[in-house]
Amino acid sequence: MSKKNFIGDDWYKNVCIYQVYPRSFCDSNGDGIGDIRGIISKLDYIKSLNVGAIWICPMYDSPNRDNGYDVRDYFALQPEFGTTEDFSLLTAKCHELGIRVIMDVVLNHSSSECEWFLSSSSSERDPKRDWYIWRKGKPDGAPPTNWEAIFGGSAWNYDAKTDSYYLGTFSPYQPDFNWENAELREALFDVLRFWLERGVDGFRLDAINFISKAPGYPDGMAGPNGLAPIRPFVCNGPKVHTWLSEMKKKVLSPMHAMTVGEADGSSVEDAIRFSKEIDMIFSFDHVALDIGPNFTFNKKIPLPKLKSILSEWQNKLRGKAWNALFWENHDQPRIVSRLGDEDDLRAVSAKMLAAALFFLQGTPFIYQGEELGLPNTRFAKRTELRDIEMCNAFVNYVDTGILSQEHLMRFANYKGRDTGRTPMPWDGSPRAGFTTGTPWIKLGDTHRTLNVENQDADEHSVLNWFRTLIGFRRNDRVIRDGEYRVYNIDDPNVYEYTRLLNGSGYHILCSFCKDETRYVCGFEGTKTQMLFSNYGDDTFSETGKLRPFETVISKAELP
Ligand code: NOJ
Ligand code: CA
Repeated sequence: MSKKNFIGDDWYKNVCIYQVYPRSFCDSNGDGIGDIRGIISKLDYIKSLNVGAIWICPMYDSPNRDNGYDVRDYFALQPEFGTTEDFSLLTAKCHELGIRVIMDVVLNHSSSECEWFLSSSSSERDPKRDWYIWRKGKPDGAPPTNWEAIFGGSAWNYDAKTDSYYLGTFSPYQPDFNWENAELREALFDVLRFWLERGVDGFRLDAINFISKAPGYPDGMAGPNGLAPIRPFVCNGPKVHTWLSEMKKKVLSPMHAMTVGEADGSSVEDAIRFSKEIDMIFSFDHVALDIGPNFTFNKKIPLPKLKSILSEWQNKLRGKAWNALFWENHDQPRIVSRLGDEDDLRAVSAKMLAAALFFLQGTPFIYQGEELGLPNTRFAKRTELRDIEMCNAFVNYVDTGILSQEHLMRFANYKGRDTGRTPMPWDGSPRAGFTTGTPWIKLGDTHRTLNVENQDADEHSVLNWFRTLIGFRRNDRVIRDGEYRVYNIDDPNVYEYTRLLNGSGYHILCSFCKDETRYVCGFEGTKTQMLFSNYGDDTFSETGKLRPFETVISKAELP
């Protein structure tokens, strides 16, 4: 199918999108690193999930300080991932199968090895000097502000050659672009045009709400380390919408590109504002409830709070903006390890969590391995970790004696980004069918039993549950357009909601409790037919009890 055969610009409202983390998906040549040929070899599998598109994490040439989110060359691919021919083959094959391709693009910052930055840092008179954010230090030589980079340390990095500092919101290896500069904006728009011309259907816009910084660059309230968290000074700044509407007018609209923006720290009101320029945003409040300050976590989340966040997004975006629904991605741990169970109830809890999300209004994003109900991979020691965020945290907090090694290791195994970045388990063989070589990061601990081959063969597997639900919701008008209503929002164990269009639709009941729980149904209409049960029931049993992590989805009618 050529791109032209896709009808309408709102195709994303009818499908689920599958996220591929290329480094860990499938390795075709035994170097231990997943690659484009590997993805191509698994397209039939992706097709079998019934998804309508894939989002692939960055594959541009990069020194990989942050696994590709530090782009060295926006117009070239990382050689270990493959060639431009491989990429063309990938998009062509995806389109043949009716799968659209969403590319991840990093427009807030480049790599410090990007030619643009090398040029910008070469002299104050360089034509690209103003493409990045340069400032002189304070009179005493201290950095221009006390902002702390997201991956630790000052966000300002001293450059002796020009006696100036450059801003790196994430790390020194990721200098921020200066979007105030019109030439820089044009250069970034050219990046989008380049890949759209090569067949991609849209973009996941990395950290896109960080592009406009707080006017005047004020200091923040410093914590004990003398630094202030940077987010309030870079999130949703005053010019973000001006620049995104320019991007929409010049590139996105004329080239029919779908967009999903990563917009950490955004409210529903922000989401509505973004909807004028991009199709939807990822927000993170619903996956932050188990995380406390100073690398602490509490697995027991208040379910009413989770329900109220999800419900607020469902209700307030309705008719105004579109939800991007997700539990997992490459920055998040596995959802069964957070809200479900890793042991005997792993499969039922994974199925319940999928159902809770898939019947909401919006576009669900599924992260590779989520469809198998994979739990977090656990790391035994610090040297097994690969992610810049956690590796830096060890340097900044353990090596300085602020936190114990055990404390941070416990956190890394619960919330660290490597927990979900280990190789996709294709089969139970020693290297999980991912590679014939040595994987770039340790394999998960569970692939001998939890893998695609086993779950493919088991009609009751989590994988087959995902396939069924994803297929069921595809093009379903009630799921796309129906009204959302939540019941008994204060119940601490059960999430009950309906989706109804002209009085009929679906009733969704999900127990988030690992024990049996009593429940009185809040919906006053009739449940006419049971559609899905994660305990395999085929008739209703109205006992008022729900089994651990039970979910039942029924057809429903208002009286
Ligand atoms: C968000 C990406 O998802 C994450 O992986 C990355 O580290 C940061 N943005 C910086 O680009
Ligand atoms: Ca490879």
